[in-house]
Formats: sequence, structure tokens, C-alpha cells
Amino acid sequence: MTRPAASVPPLDPLAVLKAFASLRRLTGAYPAGHPTIAQKLNELDDTVGSHLRLAPELRIDVIHGTVYMDGVLFSRDTQAHGPMLRELSDLGVDSIYIREGVRPEELLAVAEFLWRGDRSSTTSLAAQLAARHVHRVSLGRLVPLDTRWRAQRWPDAPTGPLDPDYAESLAKTQETFEHVAAGRRLDPVTVRDLVRLLICKVARSHAALGQILAVKQYENLTYCHSVNVAMLSLLIGRQAGFDESAMSALVEAALLHDIGKTRIPLDIVKKPGALDRQERRLIEAHAVLGAGLLVQIDGLRPLTPTVALEHHRGVRGTGYPDLGDAVPHLMSQIVSVADIYEAMTGARSYQNPTPPEHACLVLARLAGEKLSTALVKAFVNAITFFPIGSLVRTSSEEVGVVVETNPSNPLHPVVALVDGRFCGPVGRVDTSTRDSSGAYCRHVLETLTPPEGFDVRAFLASAA
Ligand SMILES: [Fe+2]
Ligand SMILES: [Fe+2]
Repeated sequence: MTRPAASVPPLDPLAVLKAFASLRRLTGAYPAGHPTIAQKLNELDDTVGSHLRLAPELRIDVIHGTVYMDGVLFSRDTQAHGPMLRELSDLGVDSIYIREGVRPEELLAVAEFLWRGDRSSTTSLAAQLAARHVHRVSLGRLVPLDTRWRAQRWPDAPTGPLDPDYAESLAKTQETFEHVAAGRRLDPVTVRDLVRLLICKVARSHAALGQILAVKQYENLTYCHSVNVAMLSLLIGRQAGFDESAMSALVEAALLHDIGKTRIPLDIVKKPGALDRQERRLIEAHAVLGAGLLVQIDGLRPLTPTVALEHHRGVRGTGYPDLGDAVPHLMSQIVSVADIYEAMTGARSYQNPTPPEHACLVLARLAGEKLSTALVKAFVNAITFFPIGSLVRTSSEEVGVVVETNPSNPLHPVVALVDGRFCGPVGRVDTSTRDSSGAYCRHVLETLTPPEGFDVRAFLASAA
């Protein structure tokens, strides 16, 4: 069974940026084909290649001097690399996205473009790179108002048919959070009812868990994110053997971990990646604000404010707020894992959602540094990469919906096939079937975005 393990070597995005910056300078200083250029290009190609063997895309964003890899804050000290980061930023490059299949010639062409290209041209960067036969590397930059060239509008909430209990929990959480945002007191009885609904009903619905684990094509506002993080934390709690009372405490704390964001202007909350230093400080305050708000509410469980305070703290004492070397409470560590997975698999104005299998690889890379290795393993063991209801493509060029998962073989689910017009089911394949040599007959290659109007729930009902 193949799972992303904590032994996946961590990629240092700074090494990639540094290699690009050096290669750029070398292409300006040496004639084409010089061995020094070839050596640096080899280094860059090796580094990028080792990442792309594990994930289909490498995404590095530098937002006001802070480095993000695959949408997650990279926690190493970036101060020492300030001049190199500024150099790229001065060139108008704040993002480098590299996709699988990239050729060394494309990396070299990008470095040459950074040295000689006309970046003030009105032609788009993508078109200028395409003219140099670069198709698997994208460059981006922040533009005024913190919107990007790729900026997209997503619906503000899940669209399409939802599991009824999940829909009810979202509506009730939205109402509760809006009350708090309006300055009213959080009602602990409402919170208990919500926790009961999540544990007794939503957690028992495969359809709901599928919708939470799969990519989410909507701007993930705090209330949706909070319900989703609560459910994902519950999955980890189950793996960790939590009893009923510990589970209720965990779900409550996870549901309220970001309540401090109700005290922060929505336009900042909606754009967590593209913030300047002052905006970032404001959004980071949500941990302390949330804890302060929760500690005043009688009737909540004692660890709920602690988790709100600690959920952005790493296991090695990094993150915020600064609490010295203190190791976060186990419950905070669980919520951190769920929080990062949930944020990655949700859409953002400047970022497409990350598929579950790729998000798990990112968690594996963060294990030991920022996240607890044991809890990342527990999470990955608790979920399937292709949850029921995911639309997937197989290596036999079939498209279908996952209708059964196999806990001992999560990469090889049973898929009900659709035809070219997304009608069906027109057949059923068990992707765990092997040929006479013992090799799998097919693999699931990727999760697809369901086309508009495709009703996954109705399809699952007809495939049952
Ligand atoms: Fe948070
Ligand atoms: Fe969060």
C-alpha cells in the first residue's frame, strides 16, 4: 500500500528560488551552453524533479517577503534570504508554479527570460513564456489591491445538493458566527447542539464526509471552514481512540478555533494569502482574539480557548502567537492538521483548491517540523485519497465517480463510470484488480472538478 509517509524528503522552496536567481545571473554573465550554466541547471532540474515525482505541481509564492509552498506558510527563517527574495520581487516575480513534465530547457528559458525579457510589456507573462516554448512554468506577481492575474471568483458557500445534516450544520454555524460578528455573545447551548449534530449525524454520513474531504469549489468562509475542520478533527480523534467526552471537547474546540476571525474585517479574512505585513498581523491576532472571546463564555469546555490560542503553533514552538517553547496541547495539534488540510483543499480567490492526495503530501512534508508526525499519519490513515463521490479519471482513460473505498487500499477505489456526457452509470470498475503479473490493471490518476449541473448525490443513488 502506498501512502505519503513522513519520510518524504522535505523540499526547501528557498533552494528552488535561489537556484532560479543564480541561473538567471549566470545566463547574463556566461555565453549560452557554458558548463557553469549547465551545472546550475542540472541542480535546479534535480531539485524540482524530486518534488514533482511526489506531486503534480510545485507552487511557490513569496508574499511580502514570506515564502509559501503549495499555499502553506514555509516556516524556516527567510530573513537570511532577504536580498535574493527582493531581487526576484524587483523583477516582478512573486510566484513560480512548475508543473510535472517540465523540461530543463523550459527552466533555462525562464531564467533567460528573467534576465533579458521585457517585463514591462503589455503582453501577458504567460504569452511571453509560451513564445519561448515554456508551457509548464508560470510566473506571477502581486498587483495593487492584492488581486492577482489569476484572481477568480468562487461562490461564497457550497453549491449543489448537500447532505441534509451537513447543510443544517452549515446553516446553524453561519447563524451562530454572524451573531458573534454582530457583537452578540456566543451561546454555549447552541454550540452543544451543533456539536451533537456533527457527531451524531454528520459524522455518520459518507456523503457529508465525502463532500468535506474532496476539493471544495467555493470561497471557504470561516463558518464552512470551521464545520469542515471540526469533522476532520473528529476523524483524527477517532484514530487516536478518543472517548465520547474527549471527542465532544475536540469537536467543540475545532468548531470554534477560528471564532476570532469574526472580529476581523471580512475583506481581509477572505484573502489570507495576499496580505501586507500589517494585514497579516491583524489576521494573526484572530488566535488571541478568539481565545479571549471564548474564555469569557461559561459553559464551554475548558480546552476550547486553548485550541483557539494554539492552533497556528507548530510542534517545535514556531508559528503564532509567540508562546515561547511551549508545545501545543494534543487537541491543538489535531486541529492544526485538520486546519491545514481543509484550507488547502478549499478554493481561494488566488488559488485553485488542492486535490486531497496532493494535500496529504504537503501534510507529510510538514510532519515533524510544524505538525505532529503521528497525527499526520493518523489523519492520512483516517481518510481516503479518493473519497466516495469524487469524480476521477483512471489510467485507462475512464471517468467515473468513486462509489466504494477500500480502507486497506485507499488509492484503488471502486468507480462507477460515466459516459462522455456525464450520464450513467455506464459500468463499474474495481481499480484494485490486478493482471496475471500482479500489476494493477489501472490506477486512479486524478480528481476532476465535476461539471456544472452534475448531481453527484443523484448519481451515487442511481449507482447504489
Ligand atoms: Fe486560524
Ligand atoms: Fe482555521
